[in-house]
Amino acid sequence: MSLYPPAEDSYLIQKHIPEFAQGRVLDMGTGSGILTLSAIRLSQVREVVAADKNPEAITALKKKIKEEHLRKITPIESDLFSAIQGSFEVILCNPPYLPQDEEMSKLSTDHSTNLSLYGGKKGWEFTEKFFHEAGKFLFPGGKILYLFSSLTNKKKVEEIITRHLFTFRELERKKIAFEELYLYLVEKPLILQELERKGIEDLCYLAQGKRGQVFTGVIDQNRLVKSHISKKLYLKVCIKIKHPESQAEERIENETKWLQLLNKSGIGPRYLFSGKGYLAYQYVEGTPLMQWITTAEKKEIILVLQEILKQCSILDQRGINKEEMHHPIKHILIDKDNFPWMIDFERCTETEKPKNVTQFLEFLRRISPELEKKGVKIVPQDLTILAQKYKKEHDPEAFRAIVALLS
Ligand SMILES: C[S@@+](CC[C@H](N)C(=O)[O-])C[C@H]1O[C@@H](n2cnc3c(N)ncnc32)[C@H](O)[C@@H]1O
Repeated sequence: MSLYPPAEDSYLIQKHIPEFAQGRVLDMGTGSGILTLSAIRLSQVREVVAADKNPEAITALKKKIKEEHLRKITPIESDLFSAIQGSFEVILCNPPYLPQDEEMSKLSTDHSTNLSLYGGKKGWEFTEKFFHEAGKFLFPGGKILYLFSSLTNKKKVEEIITRHLFTFRELERKKIAFEELYLYLVEKPLILQELERKGIEDLCYLAQGKRGQVFTGVIDQNRLVKSHISKKLYLKVCIKIKHPESQAEERIENETKWLQLLNKSGIGPRYLFSGKGYLAYQYVEGTPLMQWITTAEKKEIILVLQEILKQCSILDQRGINKEEMHHPIKHILIDKDNFPWMIDFERCTETEKPKNVTQFLEFLRRISPELEKKGVKIVPQDLTILAQKYKKEHDPEAFRAIVALLS
């Protein structure tokens, strides 16, 4: 067994340590300990945790620490982050990054050499596992110095970094014999880091609008309520954060306020938690209304439209305008039990003249040809008369007549 002897890649990452290392540093895959020893010399570094899967690397480093009376270094045998605890300002990683094709493997039968060189069959498998977990071990604002080579598949590495919601910047590249080395500075937007620390796992980008970005993730429900259950009960969540380029102020806060209030009337997906610039609610597994109508039965369509009208009238009674009921194409999802969920409350306003019911009737009038194809007949003129009557004084009689019109 042998340790990875410091090479061009080690020196490339070592060169940038003084600029970035500070506070608590993790050296993932410490090998000979070259990066750990560079970092610990800096006055701004408080502690270095030196991790390696290879027990020989840890034994050798412990020996060195003892012989040279080095302090503030914690060597730890760990398969990636499995034995790592706490958070770090900086993570250094010169990983095994070569693809393990058969020819290359034949060159070495030594297990620790293979561990040092090969990142997996394709070369980037280690990178995938590393970024899947790294976010949970970074302090807010934390940084990663990550090295890889042209043989690792640059595009794939960048895709992995981005998919795990990190941003990257190339610090330096260096051509050596058969490859080019890249050193990246990798960081995570603060809000996403905070969410991971709150226990949101598998954060994935879902969509974005002009004002916000939406992510999905999962959270162990035991973290939401005080619980003694040790079994994890995962719940899929939707997270909205303000679009970095949006000028619209307070949209997330507005949606947070209205969603909490409307949940009390049984409207909207379950509010979970919120913080500065983000909102988390239960993910609704459903089909957008118009798409759902194309596959649904007449009876189901009538019940769903009646329920939507009921929710619209609750909004009206509370003096809230949702602002988009005349075109609720993306804002109503129908779940597998045929229940319509209104989503997106960011544009809600308080008003003396709420118009959710009348706007939705206007929408029904427009889609009456599609409804007719499914056997749901509504006479547009009747709708107009009843809508006018309802509009005048939110007459419950008129509302009942509207609902009846759909049956
Ligand atoms: C390319 S060497 C880098 C060593 C040293 N940091 C340097 O820059 O010279 C990669 C190191 O990662 C370690 N390693 C490989 N797989 C690992 C894993 N799953 N968890 C922790 N360390 C691992 C290897 O044992 C090896 O020491």
